Amino acid sequence: MPATCVVGLQWGDEAKGKIVDLLSADHDFVVRYNGGANAGHTIVWGGRTFKLSLLPTGVLKPSVKSVIGNGVVVYPPRFLEEVDQLVAAGIPVGDNLVVSNHAHVIFPYHMEEERLVETAETRGAIGTTGRGIGPCYQDKVGRRFGVRVGELLRPDHLRERLRYVVPYKNRLMTAYANGHTDTLKRFDADQLTDEYLRYAERMKPFVTDTARLLHDGLHAGKKILFEAAQGSLLDVDHGTYPYVTSSSSLPSGVWTGSGVPARNLGRIIGVVKAYTTRVGRGPFPTELNDDTGERIRKVGREYGTVTGRPRRVGWFDAVAVRYTATLAGADEITVMLLDVLSGHPELKLCTAYRYDGETRAHFPSDSFELERCEPVFETLPGWSEDISMCRKLTDLPAAARRYVDRIGELAGLPVSVVSVGPDRDQTIHLK
Ligand code: GDP
Ligand code: IMO
Ligand code: MG
Repeated sequence: MPATCVVGLQWGDEAKGKIVDLLSADHDFVVRYNGGANAGHTIVWGGRTFKLSLLPTGVLKPSVKSVIGNGVVVYPPRFLEEVDQLVAAGIPVGDNLVVSNHAHVIFPYHMEEERLVETAETRGAIGTTGRGIGPCYQDKVGRRFGVRVGELLRPDHLRERLRYVVPYKNRLMTAYANGHTDTLKRFDADQLTDEYLRYAERMKPFVTDTARLLHDGLHAGKKILFEAAQGSLLDVDHGTYPYVTSSSSLPSGVWTGSGVPARNLGRIIGVVKAYTTRVGRGPFPTELNDDTGERIRKVGREYGTVTGRPRRVGWFDAVAVRYTATLAGADEITVMLLDVLSGHPELKLCTAYRYDGETRAHFPSDSFELERCEPVFETLPGWSEDISMCRKLTDLPAAARRYVDRIGELAGLPVSVVSVGPDRDQTIHLK
């Protein structure tokens, strides 16, 4: 089968970027199909660190075609900034990068809308990344105010469109501000059009019908790697709603978000951290609010790539991962950041939940129930050795091997990779 999908099975930041980077050289296309610059994928090669939010990880390899699919929401200044940063770092970016004419465009009023709603009252806040993702997808699905990348290339149309949209947005934001108009931003359609036409001038060479490009690629026998953003528990349908993102981060998003039929997916790789993290609000049964959590946060440098927020940290939740692995149709899992767990006398794995006095093996279908679930833990011995130099399974201490084996058993899937450091070399391949 010609296509592979790399998907996070937790709440994001599972180190998908590292796995995509390891696999990209064996593919002709690397495709982002969901989300936008809310993602933060960090890739480390020989001591050099690259952080990508909007561009696919494949862009680090100029021989690979990197595709921003129609399911992605694009903020043009961020797109251009990432291109410039790569070029400044000596990575050429040219016809190896394309963006779908059907991808939706993020405007500053989307971010303002999000800011007003997120700060209005803590009860309604989700703890988003503030990148305008939710409001842009709302406009896409609502159909009245959405603007697609292809429309940026039609100046008269864009001006007319923004003259229609912007007054609505200004009225909407005044309503959201609810009298607190001191910090309220207002937008001018003509100014915004001029600004976006300048971006469009630079983006024009990258814009194309990416679905057709991928279809042609499939017909020519090319190999495609899909890079999910976010994690399966943030999927808008199957995640911990409403504390989710606004797109389908599961592989189910591939078909709608790129135009490539899912039957082409021959391999689905589920990425998990050896523990769990979450940024933003929402239930998190295995969360650690103690010194152990603080230590994992410090050693794992668990601070958001996009917002710098400290990530919430907890033990590995096998109930959640069994649920997401099933939804994702994962064939295998990769266990990342195992090195971060060195030095704990014992480690815990959540194997079930206690809910209303009952023990449950399945993930509840709504967040209200999850909020009330208590984790049931299995305790395993830890290890004290630094494992970041291990390159074979047999190099790992017996306790670390046992921990990885148990994660595979609980997830019901083979473990294909164990990662023991951010660098591409700090990887143990199991098959
Ligand atoms: P993504 O959003 O899923 O691509 O993940 P992020 O890049 O947001 O977060 C993963 C972080 O862990 C990045 O800073 C990586 O460089 C780092 N990382 C990846 N694999 C390992 C590992 O095995 N050990 C350690 N210590 N860090 C890792
Ligand atoms: P990567 O691709 C972790 C979280 C936010 C918030 C919720 C909604 O790096 O794994 P949004 O801005 O999308 O409307 O925020 O989703 N979130 C992520 N958490 N990793 C990500 O991406 C995330 N993208 C969004 O923190 O809780
Ligand atoms: Mg990330």
